[in-house]
Amino acid sequence: MKIAVIGGGPGGLFVSVLLKRAFPDAAITVVERNRPDDTFGWGVVFSKETLGNIEAADPECFARITEAFAYWNDIDTHFAGRVIRSGGHGFCGLARRRLLQILQERCTELGVNLRFETECESLDEFADADLIVAADGINSKVREAHKDVFKPTVEPGTAKFIWLGTHRRFEAFTFIIRGNDDGLFQVHAYPFDDKTSTFIVETDEASWRRAGLDKMSVDEGVAYCERLFAPELDGQPLMTNKSAWISFRTVKCEAWSHDRIVLIGDAAHTAHFSIGSGTKLAMEDAISLVDALGREETIPAALSAYYDARWLDAAKLQRAAGVSQRWFEEIGRYRNFDPEQMVVSMMTRSKQVTYDNLRMRDPEYVAGLDRWFAAQAGVAEIEPPPPPMFTPFKLRGMELRNRVVLSPMCMYSAEEGTVGDWHLVHLGSRALGGAGLLIAEMTAVSAEGRITLGCAGLYTSEHGVAWRRIVDFVHRESAAKIGVQLGHAGRKGSAKRLWEGMNDPLPEGQAWQLLAPSAMPWSQGSPTPKAMDRADMDRVIGEYVRATEIACIAGFDLIEVHMAHGYLLAEFISPLTNHRQDEYGGSIEDRMRFPLEVLNAVRASWPEERPISVRISATDWARGGLTEAELIKVARLLKAAEVDIIDVSTGGTVPEGEPLYGRMFQVPFSDRIRNEIGMPTMAVGNIQDWDHVNTVIASGRADLCALARPHLADPYLTLRAGFEQDYEGPAAAWPLQYGPATSSMRKPKG
Ligand SMILES: Cc1cc2nc3c(=O)[nH]c(=O)nc-3n(C[C@H](O)[C@H](O)[C@H](O)COP(=O)(O)OP(=O)(O)OC[C@H]3O[C@@H](n4cnc5c(N)ncnc54)[C@H](O)[C@@H]3O)c2cc1C
Ligand SMILES: Cc1cc2nc3c(=O)[nH]c(=O)nc-3n(C[C@H](O)[C@H](O)[C@H](O)COP(=O)(O)O)c2cc1C
Repeated sequence: MKIAVIGGGPGGLFVSVLLKRAFPDAAITVVERNRPDDTFGWGVVFSKETLGNIEAADPECFARITEAFAYWNDIDTHFAGRVIRSGGHGFCGLARRRLLQILQERCTELGVNLRFETECESLDEFADADLIVAADGINSKVREAHKDVFKPTVEPGTAKFIWLGTHRRFEAFTFIIRGNDDGLFQVHAYPFDDKTSTFIVETDEASWRRAGLDKMSVDEGVAYCERLFAPELDGQPLMTNKSAWISFRTVKCEAWSHDRIVLIGDAAHTAHFSIGSGTKLAMEDAISLVDALGREETIPAALSAYYDARWLDAAKLQRAAGVSQRWFEEIGRYRNFDPEQMVVSMMTRSKQVTYDNLRMRDPEYVAGLDRWFAAQAGVAEIEPPPPPMFTPFKLRGMELRNRVVLSPMCMYSAEEGTVGDWHLVHLGSRALGGAGLLIAEMTAVSAEGRITLGCAGLYTSEHGVAWRRIVDFVHRESAAKIGVQLGHAGRKGSAKRLWEGMNDPLPEGQAWQLLAPSAMPWSQGSPTPKAMDRADMDRVIGEYVRATEIACIAGFDLIEVHMAHGYLLAEFISPLTNHRQDEYGGSIEDRMRFPLEVLNAVRASWPEERPISVRISATDWARGGLTEAELIKVARLLKAAEVDIIDVSTGGTVPEGEPLYGRMFQVPFSDRIRNEIGMPTMAVGNIQDWDHVNTVIASGRADLCALARPHLADPYLTLRAGFEQDYEGPAAAWPLQYGPATSSMRKPKG
C-alpha cells in the first residue's frame, strides 16, 4: 500500500507513526514544506484523557511525550490588581517543536519517508497512492482544491491575537486581563518546559486599532505588549516565532473524505486555542483513522467509518470552543466585575467546568468564592458561607431566601379560569420544597386571553378569591414568595390542553375569536386572528389593569408580564409575527410600543414596593426573527420602564423555530442582558440541578434561576440541594413537620 501524507504537523506525523505500526509494509511518505526544526508557535497543552488515547495507540510516543512534559495544577488569573489562584486542574504541556521532534524521530525509526522543505503544489505527484492523508493544517490546499466536496466554512473570529513566547516561566496556567486607555487585553500564558512559557496576547479589534497595533510592525507590537504586561513579565522579553496578529478562524467541513483523500486535524476542523484542543483533535483523528483502516475491508469504507466515529466529538468540541472563544471576544462586558466573579465566569465559560467541578478540584478556592459572593449578597456574617444559590436576593420590597424559582407552568386544570385544589397542592408543595420564589402559571387577563379552556384566569373576583387561598397557604406555611404570570394568548389561544394536542385549535362551538398584531395564523390549520385595532388595544390594557388589581388583592408578591413564547405581547415584539404598518409595527421601538403601554399600565396599578418581572423570548430561533441588537434594545426599554428583573427565555414564536438545545442553553442570553445593560435577570431552560444553579449565579450570568420540569419531578429539589451540599442554614430549612426527612436521606456510615 502506498500512502502520502501532506503536512508534517502533529496530525500528519502521528498518523504516519500509527499507519506504519498498523501496516508495516506500507510505503508512507510525509511531505512538509518547512525544515524539521522550523515551526510556528510555542507550547501545546494536553489533558489526561488525550494522553490515555495516545498511550493506547503508541506507548513509545506516549513515553517520550510524557517525559518531555511540564506539569502544573493551578490557574492564576490577574485582574484588577489581584491574582486569584484555583488549583487541581491537572495540565501538562510541551514545546510544539519538541512534540514534532519526538514524532519525527518515531517516524524515522519505523521507516516513514519524511520529505522536508517540499511544498505539495498538487496531488498529481501522488497519482499512484492508495490513500492521501491531508494533514496540511488550517490553510489546507487539498481541502480548497476539493471544496465542492468537502464544503468547508471558514468563520473568522472578531478578536486579534498573536502567539508569542517568553523565558518568564509562569508557575501556573496564567490569564492576565488588563485594561488601559486603548481597551481590554488578555493573555493566555502557560509553561511548557523548564525555562519557557507560551504567551498569547488577545484583544478585540477596536482596542487593537486604538492601540495602533494595526499600523505597527510585529516588533513594535511586541514592544507594546511588553510594556503593557511588564509587571507580569518580570523583566523578560517576549519572543516571536513566525508570529503575527491574526483572527482565529473556525473551519468546519461537511465531508472529510473524497475518493482516496481524507482530511485530518486543522484541515478538517479547528478549535479556538482558549480550550487548547487542536493538537489533541488532530492526534485523535489519526488514532481513529488508523483504527478504521485496520477494521474495514476497503479504504472508502474505512474513511466513512472514520468520519462516523469522529464527527460528533469534533462538533461537540468545536461548540465548546466557540462558546469559549466568544467569552474572550466579549470580555469587555465583564470589565466591571470583581476579580472573584471574573475568574469564575471565565472558568465556567464553556460549560465544561462547573461550580462543583471547581469545588472538587480546589475546595479552598471555592470557599473564598462563596465568602465573596455571600458578602456582596449582604450575608458576610454567615460562617461557613452558603453556596451562592442559598444567598438572599431582594427586588423592591420582596426578599427571597434563596435563588431558586419555580418557573411558571400551565397546569390546564382550572375551571372557567378558577384555580382549585390541584393548584393548591402543586404550588403548595413547591413552596414546602424550598424554592425561594414561585411564579404561578400564565394566568389569563380575560377569557379570550386563555390558551386553553383549562387555563387559569384573573378576570373575576371569584378568580381572586381562589388565588388568595393558595397565596395565603404559601405565605403561612413557607418562607417562599409567590408571583403570578399575567398573559394573553393572542393567536395561540383557543387551543387544546397540552395532553389533548398542544397548539391544536379547539373545535367549532368551543373556539373563540383570536387577537394578534397581524392577521396571521399560528400554523396552516390554526384560525386567523383579528389584527388588533385601537379599541382592542385599549380593552386589553384595561384587562391587564383589572388582573393586576385582582392579583394585588389576592396578595401576590410579584407580577410577571408574559412577553415570551409567541403569545400576544411577544407577537408584537417579533418581526415574524408583527407586520403592522402603523406606529405599532416596523422598528423594534415601534414593535415594543404596545407591550410597553401594557407594562406601564400594570406598573401604575401595582403597589410601588412590589416588583415586576417580564419574561421575554430572547431569540425566535428562526430566520428573520429578533436580532441580537434588537434584543438589547428590548432589554433597555424594559429597564427604562422600571422593570425589576427580566426572565430570559426563548422561542415559541413560530412553529418552524429550531432551538439549539443543551444544558443551560438560554443562559448566554441572560448573561448578555445582565452584563451588557446592567440589570437583574432570571435564567431558565435546562438548568438541571443545584450545580448548574450555583454555576449560573456565582458567575454572574443571572441573579435567579427558574426551573420548570425539574420541579415537576421533584418539588423538594431546593431542600435536597441544601442537604446534598451540607448546607443547613435558613435558606433551605425544612418545614418543621418534615424535620426528620434528612435523617432518612443520610447514608449509614461504614
Ligand atoms: C495561538 C494558538 C495556540 C494553540 N495552542 C494549542 C494548545 O495549547 N494545545 C493544542 O492542542 N492545540 C493548540 N493549538 C492548535 C494547534 O496548533 C493545531 O490545532 C494543531 O497544530 C493542528 O495540527 P495539524 O497537524 O492538523 O496542523 P498543523 O500543525 O498546522 O500542521 C500542518 C502542517 O502542514 C504543513 N503544510 C501545509 N500545507 C502544506 C503544503 N502544501 N505542502 C507541504 N506542507 C504543508 C505546514 O507547514 C504544517 O507543518 C493552538 C493554535 C494556535 C493558533
Ligand atoms: C408543563 C409546562 C407548562 C409551561 N407553562 C408555562 C407558562 O405558563 N408560562 C411560561 O412562561 N412558560 C411555561 N413553560 C415553560 C417553562 O416555564 C420553562 O421556561 C421551560 O420548561 C424551560 O425550563 P426547564 O428546562 O426547567 O423545564 C411551561 C413548561 C412546561 C413543561
